[in-house]
Amino acid sequence: MEPAGNGRKMTATIIIDRKKIQVPDEMTVLEAARSAGIHIPTLCHHAELSPVGSCRVCLVEVDGVNDPVASCMTKVQDGMAVQTDSERLRSVRRAMVELLLVDHPLECPVCDKAGECELQDIVHELGLMEPQYEPIGIEREINEVNAFIGRYPNRCIVCGRCVRACEEVQGAGVMNYVKREGYEGEVAMVARDPGECEQCGQCLRVCPVGALIEQSFKYRARAWELHKTATTCPHCAMGCTLTLNTKQGRILRVTSETPGLSGGNLCVRGRFGFDFAESEDRLQFPLIRVSGELRRAEWDEALAVAAAGLDGARRSDGPGSIAVFGSPRCTNEENYQLQKFARAVLGTNNIDFMDRPSCAGTLDGIEEATGARTAATNSVDALETVGSVLVVDSDISESQPMLALPVLRAVRQKGAALVVIDARRTKMARQSTHWLNVRAGSEEVVLGAIVRFLCENGRVEGLEQDELSGLLESLVECGLERAEQVSGVDATKMAGAAEALASSGSVAVLISALAGRETASLACDLVSMTEGNGGGVYAAGLPANWQGAVDMGVTPSRLPGGADIRDERARAAFETAWGAAVPAAGGMSAHRLLEQAEKGAIRAALVMGDSFSSAPSAVAALGKVDFVVVQDTFAGPLLECASVVLPSTSFAEKRGTFTNMERYVQRVRPALPPLGEARADTEILAEIAGHLGVRLESKPGLLMREVSSVCPSYAEVTYDLMESGPVRTIASETNAAGGKTARLVPASPSLAVEDDGRYPLRLVAGSRRFHSGAQSGKARGLKEAYPEPAVEVNPADAELLGLKDSVDAIVRTPHGEHTLKVKLTLKSSPGTVFIPLGFAAAATLLGWNGSAPATKTVAILQKREAGE
Ligand code: SF4
Ligand code: SF4
Ligand code: SF4
Ligand code: FES
Repeated sequence: MEPAGNGRKMTATIIIDRKKIQVPDEMTVLEAARSAGIHIPTLCHHAELSPVGSCRVCLVEVDGVNDPVASCMTKVQDGMAVQTDSERLRSVRRAMVELLLVDHPLECPVCDKAGECELQDIVHELGLMEPQYEPIGIEREINEVNAFIGRYPNRCIVCGRCVRACEEVQGAGVMNYVKREGYEGEVAMVARDPGECEQCGQCLRVCPVGALIEQSFKYRARAWELHKTATTCPHCAMGCTLTLNTKQGRILRVTSETPGLSGGNLCVRGRFGFDFAESEDRLQFPLIRVSGELRRAEWDEALAVAAAGLDGARRSDGPGSIAVFGSPRCTNEENYQLQKFARAVLGTNNIDFMDRPSCAGTLDGIEEATGARTAATNSVDALETVGSVLVVDSDISESQPMLALPVLRAVRQKGAALVVIDARRTKMARQSTHWLNVRAGSEEVVLGAIVRFLCENGRVEGLEQDELSGLLESLVECGLERAEQVSGVDATKMAGAAEALASSGSVAVLISALAGRETASLACDLVSMTEGNGGGVYAAGLPANWQGAVDMGVTPSRLPGGADIRDERARAAFETAWGAAVPAAGGMSAHRLLEQAEKGAIRAALVMGDSFSSAPSAVAALGKVDFVVVQDTFAGPLLECASVVLPSTSFAEKRGTFTNMERYVQRVRPALPPLGEARADTEILAEIAGHLGVRLESKPGLLMREVSSVCPSYAEVTYDLMESGPVRTIASETNAAGGKTARLVPASPSLAVEDDGRYPLRLVAGSRRFHSGAQSGKARGLKEAYPEPAVEVNPADAELLGLKDSVDAIVRTPHGEHTLKVKLTLKSSPGTVFIPLGFAAAATLLGWNGSAPATKTVAILQKREAGE
């Protein structure tokens, strides 16, 4: 007898096609058959969706039951005997498929699904060579689901898979049946506002036929012509696994068929934001500045100029006069190579990346409580098993959309409580059990009040009294009444939410990566205080390889693996490994480096990656540096101050790894040849080092071997192991044992909410799902879907201000002003306006200068008059 069922408890013994198997009794006959390698055709079934049993092609015969039953809907029973193939079954299946074909056009030659269409496969499998009935020929109009997905209703077999994916997976519920029965049955977009469709493409992914088609893929290739390369999404720290489909050196679409992270689901950025790799802004040739102008150069010449400029600054003003910037959009291997170049070749610890200081407070808070510098103290999978989720001022369905999916599954399918502290009516707020609609800027106070309330009401488990006293003391000002005054949220509502969290067993707290130390500490405290294991703290919205860049030592005070630069033994170990001296003096953070640059105290800079594109003040500061090497994939504002420009490959052309927020390390694989003369960053750095007389390794595989040998947490990370999937670093496995943090840390939430009578509105900045920075801004489809930042305003406020949708308005804050288009939305609460991060407008209006950015301020909004 053959066992089946992936190690789950075996409780039913059944016979399928004379094969005896044991399976868990919650399995359906279809699942049992598949687990035993027996094929049953299906159409309406999808393994990740609830069964509906509508197509009837999965019928099987069960001994003792007269009529065939749908195997996707029938649970196994001990002693059951099943036949999956017989003349009777083939005849019924043929009849069902023939009925579908009556209302299905024979468009296989021009249908983009041909070659991977489930209906085509079944027709072939059942040998339906001749149509049995005259087609009824109902003509329905081709239209679109959204800008990325075309809808061909004539090809729709009304299986409802798109409807279920939209509701059950994405939690959007904007695709539905408009008619259900007969040949008039139809599904369609039912959103009241087209913006409610999240453009995620989960519906596209599950459609078995060519009824939903990716617009940009239309007529560009037959399925069998595509070359597929599994790689990692470059847009955010979720690290979803995706497959690049290429033909003749171009990416034609992204699919998600490779097993990996996020279970095949992607967001709009991951699925449709891939063509930045062929953006017209790509740098393709080296450039050097001659007589004030950038001119094309040969690689040898440009590399020699870069090396000479860096060496000149080092010799004349010392290594401390050089600033080196890495990037969370570059791979681990590139970032490791860069910090080694800075430390071992140039002799400076002045290395950082722009997004690090802005998120450093949040990561400091988590590290203080857990001992690990990590963006997540537990796995994303653990989110599905928690008793409750608290989301604090973090619009995760926009900043890191795939992080929202397990939360929604926990809430909708497992009854977890969802508490949301947010000034905006976000998707999470709409789906929450408790929405604490706070005054923008008071989120931290409300979180502090909840923590204090739980401490005072004995809703904490197994904690040391002195730790508890220390925490309570730090929250002495933060009672529910005070929080009510500051936030405008009723104290009883806060107490109710606190009780819901405390009684749920285990809590996961999702915060923004920009939240800061106090919020992170309180989140960790809350997780530690709750009874059960399995919760955790998750900092959302980081760029793709933020964790990896930190792990690789792209920080002024830490070596790869996290050792303090002041630790003599750690430095000695690296000196032995590298055969070079490692400077002992801590370097300057990105923020300080830019301050020094502004004062003219930095002589030379090397900037790898694209971190500066949305921070004009950073570009202005680097404009005061004598010699700037820009090693980048795209042309951007930084070129204005570049002395040398070295074009680097995009994620689709390079080999390496990214480390996601859970510390899974995953492969990035090349699907395209380098564009123009672009080279891998590791090669460029090795060449510059060569000009300075130092040999550096340039092959990513060998660099990862070096990383494994010097970073204990990466000791088990190898390219070979990653061939079969993501590999988690060692620290995170220890850390993820229960998601609990090591100790309670005191926190002092700010009780002051910025107020200025001259600015009557509160302004909140956050992510929009289309853009996460420089790369998404170069993707054609994403740019078209969200071409420019808009200020989101509640309709009631707009009426008071005399503003209409799409008009230009001047947004003024104490830091600056910007003209933006108005977007009316109920997501913005009255009195609160929203602007997207990732555009220059946010940097201006928030006064961002490379330090921790505030994401809230006060604002005035007024209509821009003609000529103004
Ligand atoms: S793109 Fe996403 S949100 Fe829009 S209909 Fe499809 S599944 Fe639903
Ligand atoms: S559009 Fe596709 S997934 Fe949706 S009902 Fe039609 S055939 Fe099924
Ligand atoms: S942007 Fe983030 S959430 Fe979206 S597909 Fe990429 S990694 Fe996943
Ligand atoms: S797959 Fe079972 S009824 Fe459609």
